[in-house]
Amino acid sequence: MTDLPRIPLAGVIGHPIAHSRSPQLHGHWLSRYGIKGHYIPMDVAADDLPAALAMLPKLGFVGVNVTIPHKTSVLKLAEVVTDRAALIGAANTLTFRKDGKIHADNTDGVGFMANLRQLAPHWQAAQGPAAVFGAGGAARAVIAALIESGTPEIRIANRTRQRAEGLQADFGGRLVVYDWLHAGDMLEGAALVINATSLGMSGKPDLRLPLDLLKAGTIATDLVYTPLITPFLTDAQSRGAHIVDGLGMLLHQAAPGFERWFGQRPQVDDNTRAAVLGI
Ligand code: ATR
Repeated sequence: MTDLPRIPLAGVIGHPIAHSRSPQLHGHWLSRYGIKGHYIPMDVAADDLPAALAMLPKLGFVGVNVTIPHKTSVLKLAEVVTDRAALIGAANTLTFRKDGKIHADNTDGVGFMANLRQLAPHWQAAQGPAAVFGAGGAARAVIAALIESGTPEIRIANRTRQRAEGLQADFGGRLVVYDWLHAGDMLEGAALVINATSLGMSGKPDLRLPLDLLKAGTIATDLVYTPLITPFLTDAQSRGAHIVDGLGMLLHQAAPGFERWFGQRPQVDDNTRAAVLGI
């Protein structure tokens, strides 16, 4: 009997997982490139994470994406952690290597940057300060990417100021912490403004900020992509900002994993966006 090649399996683990758009995205790329493979959503409780990661490679999985609440805990279970995942303190992409080791990477920052470069190609890091609202896991990945890109100053405000100060302690002198009550002041002379809080997401309160200091032509982007155009982006656009929605970050952060697991660099374009939006 001839050995048939194994069909590669990948997926996303989280708890809960039903909301994840990753299966639609990877499914779209698999059919677009005619790749025999599958990408599966898996609800894994925290207690089951070590056993699940030990078993998945044996079942034919070549890797998985990781989402809330496992992004930090997987670092302890991986034998190889990339520098950027270590710096961010979280991983979103695991690869099960042939030597049995788990490789953990964080592609959120590169996803953020690739989205920005695609939808605001005129943006250059040296143009001026970036202003970041929020200091959670997503903000950490964005700040790491901004530092790597050479952004001269990164202003940050968070409801819980201590968390912003923690980021400043970790990332150093290019970060300037502003008080949440004066977050609007960060916009003065900023070239790029980013909402990295969960405010504006469907079912959550809006991010309500005085945008008086936002200059026309400034790039405003939101990591929230449900809704695609958040109230913050609508406000910013009405003041002449160039807006970039957050869906592309989701699409671009997925590309390195897909390439590693299935051997094809996927395109992120309008068809990809439509597939994930279900239109
Ligand atoms: P993520 O990984 O998506 O960044 P997170 O780590 O839970 O998720 O961070 C959520 C971010 O949204 C934080 O900056 C949080 O502020 P706190 O650190 O003060 O919690 C911010 N956020 C969530 N709800 C908020 C609210 N009602 N007002 C202001 N900020 C809020």
